[in-house]
Amino acid sequence: MAEAKRALITGITGQDGSYLAELLLGKGYAVHGVVRRTSNLLRSRIEHLRSEESIYNQQLFLHYGDLSDGTTLRRIFAQVQPDEVYHLAGQSHVGLSFEIPESTSEEVAMATLRLLEICRDQGHALRFYHASSSEVFGAATESPQTETTAMRPANPYGCAKAFATQLAQVYRNAYGLFVCNGILYNHESPRRGENFVTRKIARAAARISRGLENELVLGNISARRDWGHARDYVEAMWLMLQHSKPDDYVVATGVTHSVRDFMEAAFAVVELSPEKYLKTDPAFHRPAEPAKLVGSPVKIERTLSWKPQTTFEELVHEMVQAELAAIAPA
Ligand code: NAP
Ligand code: GDD
Repeated sequence: MAEAKRALITGITGQDGSYLAELLLGKGYAVHGVVRRTSNLLRSRIEHLRSEESIYNQQLFLHYGDLSDGTTLRRIFAQVQPDEVYHLAGQSHVGLSFEIPESTSEEVAMATLRLLEICRDQGHALRFYHASSSEVFGAATESPQTETTAMRPANPYGCAKAFATQLAQVYRNAYGLFVCNGILYNHESPRRGENFVTRKIARAAARISRGLENELVLGNISARRDWGHARDYVEAMWLMLQHSKPDDYVVATGVTHSVRDFMEAAFAVVELSPEKYLKTDPAFHRPAEPAKLVGSPVKIERTLSWKPQTTFEELVHEMVQAELAAIAPA
């Protein structure tokens, strides 16, 4: 029997990392994840995998490491000898990147350089996925954006992702490495971090409907995003690394909704009108917003036969239902 493929995931404890780990375990991979030391051992998004005896330390392995620690990352590569690397880790909050630009750039830009250098030194061929973002387009010159749209980032996070994306292209072209950039638009799920707008809204709708909270405080509710489901988007990551040649792909639905649309859909699930509870606070406004971010999924549909499976309404419904289920019965 052929040996299982080995995948290494940075950011396995994040939203995308947890779905990707499930996908790869289901495909029979040996999955290795990099986790950083935290004061709390509970890694909620992968706890269901870690607590499964037939999986943990059988098919799923965790390694302590931090993106800033090149020596340890290099040691993990030597130990794991990965066939596929999915680099997902880093500070992922756009608004926060205005407050912590230096560490955001370190984690998003320099860490990608560090990992690409390690890949360059590997004695065996491996495939590398880089988690790029629609935020590289920022003040976009065209809409919808494609793989050839100019990068014009509008915040520190976008700048760092643009650096990492272009660097990944350089390593592919200069050294012949199998490196892919997935230029992903917003993707959400019940596992989304609590300070991203969709999770914040879904949680508030559920809690308000149960009488546990009485307001939802937001920033710019006119902002529009191209929202998909994280479960669909990790499939796209995997498909990129299975193709015969490395390339960059926009991963998007091609449809936008406003934050207000999301809020109205979420409150409709619990049969409430949001206006009564909505408050706005300039603290949640950003110094700059990107222009209309909407992606064209034409290339990935044609080349990798990828299509998003979850509609906007299904996504909102799933997120609100998960929040309701998480509230302990009175
Ligand atoms: P996420 O939930 O915020 O997860 C980030 C992951 O990175 C977590 O596992 C986190 O570990 C880890 N991490 C952060 N700093 C680290 C460090 N210094 N050393 C080691 N690990 C570190 O993000 P996500 O939504 O899954 O997104 C995954 C990637 O895709 C990110 O790079 C993000 O920027 C990018 N992206 C996301 C979207 C989206 O809509 N979700 C769209 C485009 C691109 P802890 O659990 O310990 O914090
Ligand atoms: N977080 C947050 N909180 N955003 C708010 C709020 C609020 O209270 N009120 C309004 N918004 C608006 C933001 O100004 C933004 O225009 C929009 O809601 C979405 O914000 P986020 O959910 O924080 O996501 P994001 O689009 O900034 O960034 C996400 O998507 C990128 C891809 O386009 C992140 O996942 C990034 O990592 C990712 O690269």
